[in-house]
Amino acid sequence: MMMTPIKTSPSDTSIGNSLVQPQQQQLNQARSRVGHSSLALLQAFIAGLSFMGLLTFLTSSNTGTNTSLPVPVGTVIKSLHSNSTTSASSSPPSTISNSTSSISSWCPHSSNRSINSISCHNTDLCHPCQRRFLIIIASARSASTTLTWMLDTLPQLRMSGENKNVLYNMMTLHQSLWQNRQFQVASKNKNAFGHNPIPKQTFACAVQQIVQSFNPPLLDPSNQQTLQQTPQEEQETIIGFKTIKFDLNHKDNNNNKDDSNTSVVILDKTTRQMMDFVRDNLPCSRILVNINSNVTRQAMSQESSGIARSMNPEELELRNQRLRRIQQRFGDHHAHLLDAQQWTNNVTVLNQALDWLGYSPECHFQEVLQFNTVNRYRNGKTEMSQQPNPNCRLMV
Ligand SMILES: *[C@@H]1O[C@H](CO)[C@@H](O)[C@H](O)[C@H]1NC(C)=O
Ligand SMILES: *[C@@H]1O[C@H](CO)[C@@H](O)[C@H](O)[C@H]1NC(C)=O
Ligand SMILES: *[C@@H]1O[C@H](CO)[C@@H](O)[C@H](O)[C@H]1NC(C)=O
Ligand SMILES: *[C@@H]1O[C@H](CO)[C@@H](O)[C@H](O)[C@H]1NC(C)=O
Ligand SMILES: *[C@@H]1O[C@H](CO)[C@@H](O)[C@H](O)[C@H]1NC(C)=O
Ligand SMILES: *[C@@H]1O[C@H](CO)[C@@H](O)[C@H](O)[C@H]1NC(C)=O
Repeated sequence: MMMTPIKTSPSDTSIGNSLVQPQQQQLNQARSRVGHSSLALLQAFIAGLSFMGLLTFLTSSNTGTNTSLPVPVGTVIKSLHSNSTTSASSSPPSTISNSTSSISSWCPHSSNRSINSISCHNTDLCHPCQRRFLIIIASARSASTTLTWMLDTLPQLRMSGENKNVLYNMMTLHQSLWQNRQFQVASKNKNAFGHNPIPKQTFACAVQQIVQSFNPPLLDPSNQQTLQQTPQEEQETIIGFKTIKFDLNHKDNNNNKDDSNTSVVILDKTTRQMMDFVRDNLPCSRILVNINSNVTRQAMSQESSGIARSMNPEELELRNQRLRRIQQRFGDHHAHLLDAQQWTNNVTVLNQALDWLGYSPECHFQEVLQFNTVNRYRNGKTEMSQQPNPNCRLMV
């Protein structure tokens, strides 16, 4: 990854190394417990689907020696909701309690149960609110790659690029079973679709682990097995990715011709389901919705880039309305709107997004980089002129 050299080193974080050893053992125990139970659960339904490719992938990421693995997301390391802790979380490390409590500021739906009735349902199978995620929802040729790799230079944030709308694919996997009536009624029955009762939000840990597996932390180059960072540092790292297909990868999305005739865009059902899927399975997440309001410019850029489904300015305008609507529907606490027409010309606008994410003022960018922006997919400047400010930190 190009930006790695200027990323803040693990030693810059506030976590003392002296803590790591005793916790490590408990972490491994917790990891092994949770890993096994979620593995068993996954195997139960994935085997039924004959989804052997995924099974192999999940199995290989869950077995073997614990010390050689990244911390699985959802693993019980520390609990945001102490009332519902389990034995595995009986050792909350006191010195990282500040960041523990503050993670909940990234969990709007768990900290405020009145919003959309989403909560963090903790069981021994899954603690869905222990990991933070950042999703960039963008349209093609809106400087979203530049945004992705600029954000990646920030501490405690690991970005990745496109993942072929993995969220949609996971939602489909989930729906294919949960919307099956035979499966729904089979709970506890020893019939063809039989299985134990599945607590709500159990799927969240599978989702989070898949997202992590597509954007893993670096391993120690000397052995290619252990983490470069401590497990705690990995646990506190926000896992990010961008997607230009959040609201595109389904059949019914462009059927909303009526949209052009109304001032309020109505999101299609699949997009609304995607949003619910994010709330349920990545409850501690923030979303940056990135558009380019200069649709004339964006249409020219799409056309000259030769992307498969380039849109004309009118279509892009409609898409922008939809993306704006997605931001509104997630709400200002959960999602923030960025307009490339503004932030690529005025870095202050981008820095306001950093403030919203909870980064300290020292993190403010001084300049805008250029990935994929020059002459189709060539890069301009991809490294910051200045070293990152060592006082830059994630305050929440
Ligand atoms: C935790 O338990 C205490 C005492 O039973 C209760 O007052 C408090 O509201 C609970 N907190 C949460 C987050 O459920
Ligand atoms: C936790 O927060 C308090 C008050 O803001 C501060 O004094 C303390 O140093 C913090 N502890 C750590 C480990 O960051
Ligand atoms: C929770 O959300 C409701 C509705 O938006 C709001 O009125 C209330 O103040 C919020 N509570 C907290 C603690 O944020
Ligand atoms: C737009 O909507 C109005 C009211 O629903 C309707 O009367 C009108 O015919 C529509 N116009 C077009 C071009 O579809
Ligand atoms: C939008 O982009 C076009 C093409 O690059 C440019 O000519 C125009 O000035 C831009 N509009 C604004 C408002 O910047
Ligand atoms: C840049 O954006 C900020 C925040 O919106 C605004 O206050 C400032 O006036 C803008 N600067 C220029 C040169 O447009």
